[in-house]
Amino acid sequence: MGAVLSFGQDPRWRRFLVSRLDVGPGVNVLDVATGTAMVAREVVAATGARVVGLDLSPDMLRRGIAETAAAGMGDRVRFLQGDGQRLPFADETFDALTFTYLLRYVDDPAATLAELVRVVRRGGTVAGLEFHVPKPPWSWAWWVYTRLAMPVVGRLVSRDWSAVGRFLGPNISAFYDHHPLTEQFAMWRSAGVQDVQAQIMSLGGAVVVWGRRSHGG
Ligand SMILES: C[S@@+](CC[C@H](N)C(=O)[O-])C[C@H]1O[C@@H](n2cnc3c(N)ncnc32)[C@H](O)[C@@H]1O
Repeated sequence: MGAVLSFGQDPRWRRFLVSRLDVGPGVNVLDVATGTAMVAREVVAATGARVVGLDLSPDMLRRGIAETAAAGMGDRVRFLQGDGQRLPFADETFDALTFTYLLRYVDDPAATLAELVRVVRRGGTVAGLEFHVPKPPWSWAWWVYTRLAMPVVGRLVSRDWSAVGRFLGPNISAFYDHHPLTEQFAMWRSAGVQDVQAQIMSLGGAVVVWGRRSHGG
């Protein structure tokens, strides 16, 4: 559904997300909400880092493990079932952290961001990718696409995807109604991230936000 919603742009979004990381071979990166590990594999391919891919869902992890082994990266990514809201790691365990499509699914995005930042060493990069609501003149086309076309596409695929097709557009809109991007930047700073930057992708269909864990606080 990510590929459908992004008109096939989502691999480019993941590549840009990973390009924000200041890491190289041998360092440790945590990818939260790793799902089928597309970001985790991009980190390995682009940087040579070692990755831990964490996700709440055993089904997603099973697919992630299989697809990563098939890509010949089985020895570079370690998978772990866990909750991004309560990470099973000590403070400052990782050199950098990525997360994708996570904050819409948690009760308290600010607290979750603080928890993600906690496990990154000071000076390490934290970078997140999320869908976004385009601004005019693209907003109407996005609304029509998410509210009318995606439910139809979902219905054609399967019953499960039909539910996703109906859920995703309203869920993204509600997230930005409650947490506009400017408020999210404040959350990042409160979580201990400095030099917070953002890049709107593909006419507003997604946003990558990143920064460095601050040295103080
Ligand atoms: C849309 S998928 C994204 C997967 C992948 N990162 C990608 O780029 O395609 C969102 C993932 O977030 C996971 N997830 C949702 N809430 C989570 C939480 N609290 N902790 C960890 N993973 C979570 C889901 O299980 C799902 O695999």
